[in-house]
Amino acid sequence: MSLRSNDRQWGSVAKFFHWVIALGILGNGLFGLLMDLAHSPMQKINWLALHKSIGLTVLALVLLRIAWRWADRRPPDEPMPRWQRLAAQATHGVLYVLIVLLPLSGWWFNSVTGKPLQWFKQFNLPALVAKNDELRDFAHGVHEYLFWFLLLVLVAHVGGALKHHVFDNDNVLRRMLPFGRLRARSPSEGDRP
Ligand code: HEM
Ligand code: HEM
Repeated sequence: MSLRSNDRQWGSVAKFFHWVIALGILGNGLFGLLMDLAHSPMQKINWLALHKSIGLTVLALVLLRIAWRWADRRPPDEPMPRWQRLAAQATHGVLYVLIVLLPLSGWWFNSVTGKPLQWFKQFNLPALVAKNDELRDFAHGVHEYLFWFLLLVLVAHVGGALKHHVFDNDNVLRRMLPFGRLRARSPSEGDRP
């Protein structure tokens, strides 16, 4: 499997970014929601610090992913109706926006509360804006509801991927899976390389 994407499938760098970021976003979102299960205030502080550090790492990976997507090619779409192609493009666009905004909104929320921000206790990061108690609940809401919205968009995204895999039996999911073996082309697809 090559590092770059080719005509038939996503390259290993694009696959790595897709799956590590998917895991990072979903895992860290769940972690954020379960934070209140902490047994003590100290444990909650430690969990929060971990949540923020993981979130910042995801943000860095997302920025690298966007740069790579720009430099790498995209495999041509599998044959599908135009409305499906447009729906997929729109969903992907919204997902890209959400995975940038989610960690950024966390950083913004943290800045509004005036709390310090460290990356895995290694170095400090600056606040994005000044402390502002009036914006606190709003910023918290934005951060949380962006995650719920992402889950909603994911229903369409994952539903679409599974529909292609199970009903259309094409390569849309296979070509994004880490060790996915591509299905041989049907004769109707011609002999595209
Ligand atoms: C992968 C990116 C991230 C995701 C998916 C995510 C998601 C969430 C979710 C779902 C919550 C729970 C909201 C609630 O029920 O109160 C939360 C809480 C929180 N997040 Fe994030 N977050 C991410 C990154 C960040 C970053 C980068 C920061 C800060 C720099 C941050 C700061 C916070 C804070 C301060 C809370 C409040 C916890 C509490 O007081 O209970 N998050 N996050
Ligand atoms: C937080 C979770 C996820 C996010 C943020 C996400 C985001 C994205 C984005 C932005 C793309 C477009 C790639 C591009 O054109 O540059 C993409 C492609 C894709 N995703 Fe996800 N994804 C997530 C989870 C999943 C899951 C769970 C599945 C499968 C069940 C999946 C299956 C796919 C497939 C098959 C493609 C390739 C589509 C194609 O080749 O046209 N994704 N994803």
